[in-house]
Amino acid sequence: MAADIGSPTPLWRQGIPRRECATIVCLSGERVAVFRYDGKVSAISNVCQHQNGPLGEGRIIDGCVTCPWHGYQYQPESGAAPPPFKEKIPTFRVKVVEGSVFVHPRPNPPGTRVEPAQIESAQVKPREAQSR
Ligand code: FES
Repeated sequence: MAADIGSPTPLWRQGIPRRECATIVCLSGERVAVFRYDGKVSAISNVCQHQNGPLGEGRIIDGCVTCPWHGYQYQPESGAAPPPFKEKIPTFRVKVVEGSVFVHPRPNPPGTRVEPAQIESAQVKPREAQSR
């Protein structure tokens, strides 16, 4: 059962984005990067702590969102850099319902762990499933 995230904001009414793909949205004035990876969805700030690089244009490498500008990394579930690094960015609560992703518009404090939303295989639209 999906966790209650209050009054969520739907992001994708057309379905869940393709694997390893991020979508960047603006919620309550915050730039948010929503990543699909390993059958899950997580949402973090789109702004890198180093020099404000666009994290949503990066990729997940070794389990971490990797900034496309200089390679700083953040764990998608917590927004925290992997040890021994100390950078932290805000996270957002997410859930998946009937093939749509919902993101709570209020950011959590930087480094707050949020359980990723699980994507059931039945929620993936047929055309998307063929593109894997
Ligand atoms: S701006 Fe992200 S690593 Fe430099």
